[in-house]
Amino acid sequence: MPDFRRLLPVIGTAQRGHTGRSAMTCQYRCGNACDHPVPNESDNEYLGDLISTGLTRRGLVRAGALGALVVGAAGAGLAGAATPALADPDGARPEVPEVDPAAAPTAAAAVLTFKPIPPNQLDTLVVPNGYDSAVVIRWGDAVVPGAPAFDVRKQSWQAQLKQFGYNNDFLAVLPLGRDRALLVSNHEYTNEELMFPGFTTHDALTVDQVKIAMAAHGLSVVEIERVGDTGRWTPVGRGPRRYNRRITMLDTPFTVDGPAAGSPLLRTKADPAGRTVIGTLNNCSGGVTPWGTVLSGEENFNQYFVGGDEAPAAIRPALARYGIDTTKRYPSGSRKWERADARFDLKVNGNEAHRFGWIVEIDPYTPGSTPRKHTALGRFKHEGATIALAKDGRAVAYMGDDERFDYLYKFVSDKRMDHGHSEKARRHNLTLLESGTLYVAKFEYTSAAEIDGSGKLPSDGAFNGRGRWIPLVRGDRSLVPGMTVEEVLVFTRLAADKMGATKMDRPEDVEVNPKTGKVYAALTNNTSRAPGAKAAADEVNPRNNNKHGHVLELTEDGGDNGAESFSWDLLLVCGDPNDPNTYFAGYDKSKVSPISCPDNVTFDGAGNLWIATDGNQLDSNDGLFAVPLEGAERGHVKQFLTVPVGAETCGPFIVGDGRSVFVNVQHPGEVDGATMDNPASTWPDGDFAKPAVVVSWRLDGRPIGS
Ligand code: FEO
Ligand code: CA
Ligand code: CA
Repeated sequence: MPDFRRLLPVIGTAQRGHTGRSAMTCQYRCGNACDHPVPNESDNEYLGDLISTGLTRRGLVRAGALGALVVGAAGAGLAGAATPALADPDGARPEVPEVDPAAAPTAAAAVLTFKPIPPNQLDTLVVPNGYDSAVVIRWGDAVVPGAPAFDVRKQSWQAQLKQFGYNNDFLAVLPLGRDRALLVSNHEYTNEELMFPGFTTHDALTVDQVKIAMAAHGLSVVEIERVGDTGRWTPVGRGPRRYNRRITMLDTPFTVDGPAAGSPLLRTKADPAGRTVIGTLNNCSGGVTPWGTVLSGEENFNQYFVGGDEAPAAIRPALARYGIDTTKRYPSGSRKWERADARFDLKVNGNEAHRFGWIVEIDPYTPGSTPRKHTALGRFKHEGATIALAKDGRAVAYMGDDERFDYLYKFVSDKRMDHGHSEKARRHNLTLLESGTLYVAKFEYTSAAEIDGSGKLPSDGAFNGRGRWIPLVRGDRSLVPGMTVEEVLVFTRLAADKMGATKMDRPEDVEVNPKTGKVYAALTNNTSRAPGAKAAADEVNPRNNNKHGHVLELTEDGGDNGAESFSWDLLLVCGDPNDPNTYFAGYDKSKVSPISCPDNVTFDGAGNLWIATDGNQLDSNDGLFAVPLEGAERGHVKQFLTVPVGAETCGPFIVGDGRSVFVNVQHPGEVDGATMDNPASTWPDGDFAKPAVVVSWRLDGRPIGS
């Protein structure tokens, strides 16, 4: 049961960063992005008007019945999976169970019956009555068998390479059998102030300590097993654990594929072919593909690079468009990684920054496999990517570029998925993200003249309209005037600017509801939206100074995720329900939980939307919420859990039998003034804060939520 006795320790002040996070989170997570000018200075609404979008203005058109089987990336079909053979010792691919790793949870939580928990600031994880929760794995726990026991005062990069990394964000649970699974987790960023006892400044860190931070970035793959017949899961503690691996910034090579692989824009002295990159950076969210791999988004890569002021003049504008400071050597928030590896100095290696900002694909079922960076999906501050299938079987990836005034994208593969379970089918599916059409979203409105930035609902009763996916690249052909295909894919933000994309309020997770095929996008916040030609509110981003964010619902024409046009509406305009500028799909606001800063989303077996928050501005810790999407309960937001002090709620992931929900507790204790020696949070072990994976389950064994 939740422990309500551990109250919030008082550390520092209540000072907040620009988005409700602590200033410390702003520094470490995104390099103080909000302190820098908005990177998107384009005037693209004007340019967009010059481009015929073919949009109709006849208002919201509901798509017809959804005939296609739409496979979402919401959960793992654990139930009924066959136990696979063990991996061979050479690291070749073990036999994978014949289940769809990306199938929706099978057990439905038709009605959300749990009693919502109240907002709180407790330094613990709080779940509703009738539920329990436990840490699955935390920073420093062994991942690779033989990893040394975690000792924070004797930590080494060699140890960290074998241990669970820092600041776990995206997570997925892939089936290995009914009672065994692979936990895959991103490690987005590090906070050296909370990782190293006696921290003073980044300059004072030793090179070995910088390498510890680098080794704590990346991903982990961990075999887990069910505890008894409960919804609780724990790492497999003994035996071969052949799937366990760390993928790190320090030592994991990635292959670059797609139309920009080998481009001169990606070549460096160390990699003259432009086809191999060591490491992955700032991996935020992601998704599970229907062919059993994991996608992960490289997000705020810009903050790791210095020397933008001395980079080649020709690439400086593009560097700046990606948030890299080209005016001074050491921008605020820089991490001084160039002390350990010169490639983070753009004076030495101008192109190195172009080698990050991609969607990467990991094959957790093949322990020795080389992960890949897919240039066909474009380069931006990728929150993540989630896959649905078009009616004709092509893979569709939905993606957000998480920056104020940046864009919503999708990719549609050229080839169709092979649903077979042969090695040939697997090899085919692994090529799906190498070639296709990359689109950016352009929105149109039904009530444009009524939008005044206050959040007032238009007279037609909805923030809604139509929209079109503008193609940027088809296969190896650029559709952007004046840009080659390589330029469009490496400098995708610049290409989207030219084509008149709609500037959004920080698009984070974008996921498809496996029950309906509708697409849901979390738009976390944007306090820079203000009256003015380039930055005023519009119907799809209807509030100026948008502190609390909103959730977009997008219905592709014909119910086909491969369509090139759509209708849309806002499901939620978040905040305190007592605030008139909030909207909960028309539901009675006196009955909903306050919600602020939606970030990661997923679905349960009934198609209810689960939303994790990052940066709650309502004087509560962040949390996980559930909301029905159809019927009389649509819009009835209920809070399911809160995370400890200073933390952000990430993941979330509901396993196939619906009995367990996993969340990543990222950056607990990240409160201004806190250090490892003077922690703001002592979760989960009572000593100092450690990012960790948590599972929550229902004590009576029934599906969560129901
Ligand atoms: Fe890493 Fe967009 O949050
Ligand atoms: Ca409207
Ligand atoms: Ca996020």
